[in-house]
Amino acid sequence: MEFKEGLTFDDVLLVPKYSDITSRTQTNLTTQLSRNISLNIPFVSANMDTVTESSMAVAIARAGGIGIIHRFLTIEEQADEVLKVKRSGSVIIENPYSITGDKTIEDALDYAENQDISGLLVVDDNSKLIGIVTERDLLFANSKNLIQDVMTKDVITAKAGVSIDDAKELLHKHRIEKLPLIDDSGLVKGLITSKDITNNADYPNASKDSKGRPLVGAAVGVKGDFLERSESLLEAGADTLVVDIAHGHSENAISTVKHIKKAFPDCELIAGNIATAQGAEDLMKAGVDAVKVGVGSGSICITRVITGSGVPQLTAVMDCAKIGRDYGIPIISDGGTRTSGDATKALAAGASTVMVGSMLGGTDESPGTVLTKNGKRFKVYRGMASLAASIGRKSKETGSTSFDDDLNDYVAEGVEAMVPYKGTVVDILKQLTGGVRSGLSYCGAHTIPQMQTNAEFIKMSRAGFAESQPHDVSLM
Ligand code: XMP
Repeated sequence: MEFKEGLTFDDVLLVPKYSDITSRTQTNLTTQLSRNISLNIPFVSANMDTVTESSMAVAIARAGGIGIIHRFLTIEEQADEVLKVKRSGSVIIENPYSITGDKTIEDALDYAENQDISGLLVVDDNSKLIGIVTERDLLFANSKNLIQDVMTKDVITAKAGVSIDDAKELLHKHRIEKLPLIDDSGLVKGLITSKDITNNADYPNASKDSKGRPLVGAAVGVKGDFLERSESLLEAGADTLVVDIAHGHSENAISTVKHIKKAFPDCELIAGNIATAQGAEDLMKAGVDAVKVGVGSGSICITRVITGSGVPQLTAVMDCAKIGRDYGIPIISDGGTRTSGDATKALAAGASTVMVGSMLGGTDESPGTVLTKNGKRFKVYRGMASLAASIGRKSKETGSTSFDDDLNDYVAEGVEAMVPYKGTVVDILKQLTGGVRSGLSYCGAHTIPQMQTNAEFIKMSRAGFAESQPHDVSLM
């Protein structure tokens, strides 16, 4: 048997090329996530329960990328996360949260907290607007009081269809933050908030759908409720679905892709993970709009240790990207990205985007709490095939806190780990995108496609790798 050589990020460098770029701002990171979705930066947050729920998805979409909400939630919870992202950035909220006047302040506070919002419209039984409650109305009020007794009744409203400029004028004139939109009979048709207007202006690079709302994706599995889940996620506004299975070059994955495409022909569908040209081609033939590449490359993966299977990430991306070019289907490099240099190499090797897990875990926007150990702060980051994640899923499914299964029956392919607490993801994304922009410049390229044409990789020895790291100094 002949052995094919497989290389990964630390095996190679990009050979510097002549560049006419004088500033990183002259580079453009626009790229295709999938056949019909383009992003302003080539980063996708991983569909993992310690990486992407709505906060992460909002932050990365504002920066120009996209987050994929993980699937280890009930259908309702996952669809709700998608809705939260969509609401967070739309200047006009189409279906604002509302409450009836006969509910108590306690009900309103619970509802507002669950939905992560600061105020509620108050409606009658026919959905006609009768008032508004904001934090100010609820502050220090008796929690058993009825909403109709504390709400602001003389609500400043506008007609549905009002221009943003007119809305801004009304918000300013009346010194208010929320402007409900109603039709001629007083029915609620939407809501404009000053926060959403400001957000929109503050994030000029944000990736948005045709209604100006942040892009967001959501993962589905290959078993059980995946069609029902897909329907709810699409209804909630997910721009893309990701068929998420460890071994994506499988009958399970291919038939799931076909079923989803048949049921929802307009759904932008990503599937993975695979690591070979044949795997990519089979998914492309089944109808996917992008392929996620990476088997065993992730920081928390032990698939290669447990199963002996996998392909070093750079070779996997190169092989799949070749097929991707033939079919016009973008490739997402998923797993093993530790630096902006790794991301640049993945893009230069043919990936259109890079999915990132550990680099974004440990941030304010990733799910989970900050833990302290020996005076240092951490957050949990775990593989979705780790024992802890499997147990968590099981107890969520059964609603039970005790676990009767024999742990020996579980063969984990991921580990549970901690990553240092890193503050806001915004700063991480700045470092990542800044590094990739410089990487483009070293390749003499203004754009990612140009870098893919120009890229020349050079294989390096262990000595070359050692030379590439800081050396012979004491780091501060
Ligand atoms: P990084 O390196 O960015 O990788 O942390 C994130 C990617 O790792 C994959 N993943 C897993 N792979 N066992 C695996 O073999 C697991 O338990 C596991 N959990 C996540 C996934 O592709 C993710 O995007």
